[in-house]
Amino acid sequence: MPGILKADSVEETKKRKLELVEDNTEKSKDEIKQLKKKLKKEKKEKKEKKEKKHKKDKKEKKVKDKKEKKEKKEKKEKKNKKEKEIKQEEKQEEKQETKEITLNGQWSYQEHEEITNLSQEELNQFWQKNNIELKGDEIVRPILEFKHSNFPEDIKNVLKNFKKPTPIQSSCWPIVMKKRDCIGIAKTGSGKTLTFLVPAFIHLKYINPELIKSKKISVLVIAPTRELAMQTYDNAKEFGEPLGIRSLCIYGGVQKYEQKNALRQNPHILIATPGRLLDLINEGACDISNVNFLVLDEADRMLDNGFEQDIRNIISNTRSDRQTVMFSATWPQSIQKLAHEFLKNPIHITIGSAELHANENIKQIVEVIDPKQKESRLIELLKKYHKTRKNRVLVFALYKKEAIRLENFLQRRGYNVASIHGDKSQEQRIQALNNFKNGSCPLLIATDVAARGLDIPNVEYVLNYTFPLTIEDYIHRIGRTGRAGSSGTSHTLFTQYDKAHAGELSNVLRDAHQEVPEALRNFGGTVKKKEHKIYGAFFREIDPNVKSTHVTFDD
Ligand SMILES: Nc1ncnc2c1ncn2[C@@H]1O[C@H](COP(=O)(O)OP(=O)(O)OP(=O)(O)O)[C@@H](O)[C@H]1O
Ligand SMILES: [Mg+2]
Repeated sequence: MPGILKADSVEETKKRKLELVEDNTEKSKDEIKQLKKKLKKEKKEKKEKKEKKHKKDKKEKKVKDKKEKKEKKEKKEKKNKKEKEIKQEEKQEEKQETKEITLNGQWSYQEHEEITNLSQEELNQFWQKNNIELKGDEIVRPILEFKHSNFPEDIKNVLKNFKKPTPIQSSCWPIVMKKRDCIGIAKTGSGKTLTFLVPAFIHLKYINPELIKSKKISVLVIAPTRELAMQTYDNAKEFGEPLGIRSLCIYGGVQKYEQKNALRQNPHILIATPGRLLDLINEGACDISNVNFLVLDEADRMLDNGFEQDIRNIISNTRSDRQTVMFSATWPQSIQKLAHEFLKNPIHITIGSAELHANENIKQIVEVIDPKQKESRLIELLKKYHKTRKNRVLVFALYKKEAIRLENFLQRRGYNVASIHGDKSQEQRIQALNNFKNGSCPLLIATDVAARGLDIPNVEYVLNYTFPLTIEDYIHRIGRTGRAGSSGTSHTLFTQYDKAHAGELSNVLRDAHQEVPEALRNFGGTVKKKEHKIYGAFFREIDPNVKSTHVTFDD
């Protein structure tokens, strides 16, 4: 039966079986039997094969599942391990930070034992010698040497180029470090900028270390002119950056776009002129709601009629529990009452005997002159003071137009001269100031935008072509020379139009042991009482420190 045996599929076997059934012979019956047997066998084989395959698949699946499970487990373990590691690292960092915070947070001003051991007589000697007057409810002992401060090392490093603190620094640092509000009045060029910047750094990094991690501005310094704001910013950046403190300066006369972007970088210290600051606050681009250390530099200027409303608005945006410090070289009575509105029980430090105190390192020459002769006299003075045409001479005019006229006049006379005033673009102003600083244009005509705060090394002479509107401005103008202990000369042309200032100018000259020319005395000695538009002249009768202890040392 080769045909039967050849049938190799169940279908074929079934087909053959049918044929044989139809045949119905004995032979075919046999064959049917065999076929049935074969069919059974084939079915069995098929079933076994199927089962085997199923078993195999099952086994493979099991292995695969096992492998996947293992991989998954490994992956999970790896992930967990990594997470654990990160968590551990974070914990470690946190631990370190907490350690740092606690360490830093523990910093507070500690009076040095040498200071504690000073006798009252020794203290009096220091105050007397430096003409220091303290007013307030607490007499805080000064720091006489840098070693007397317990400033952290990196802060001491900021001061490494100086031999000792200036009197305003000696007096104010302990007061500000004790978180007291203060008014610090000291002559021009006496280091007031670091008097407030150093405590600002310590406030941020050591007294309230959480502030340095905060994304909000904590320290705000307000200055009256763009150039002064930029200069203070340069200082804050130079000394603050190595301490990890970010500063930013915002001022008018330039696009807001870059300043807005820079504000998003979360500076710690913001140095600003009032107008631009208010603009950016009102536009929602600048948030000063976290400011708890506020500095008004040139505070009397910031509080006078021109800026008063802006300052009010700005301060109302800061924290009410802030510390406020104010500095200037002049402190006219007209703004004193107003100043106290923004201060909490301040300690008032004055270095210098009088309300109006010029730097005695400046030789002050005052020449009374016929207004018609001013131009020719200026040329004579430049021939004398600017003979080399290389030394720095700063000439002050009163109005922008006058500055422009003088610049043209001197240019026609062959002088290498530039000017800085409100009609120049900010770019031109910066350029003129830079060229004056680097000596490429050492003769500069300026209006009072350059009168306050600018610290330009080696300005030898300040010439007042026209007398300023206030005696305070006179003190600030001449203070551009004779800085940080160096000497300088100011020469002022005084005409009959300025006679209202004759009395106060004479007082300033006398106080600084300078010669008072007879022609000036001839104008008479009345000192006009200044009035504030709100407080009038009656503020003199209001004493903001009624309950204060008062220590005064006169010459
Ligand atoms: N302890 C110090 N010893 C010597 N020089 C110092 C000391 N502290 C600051 N100075 C330097 O004194 C110069 C004048 O400082 P600064 O501009 O702060 O004076 P200022 O009192 O603010 O003057 P102004 O009233 O004109 O604004 C700067 O060049 C500064 O580097
Ligand atoms: Mg200053």
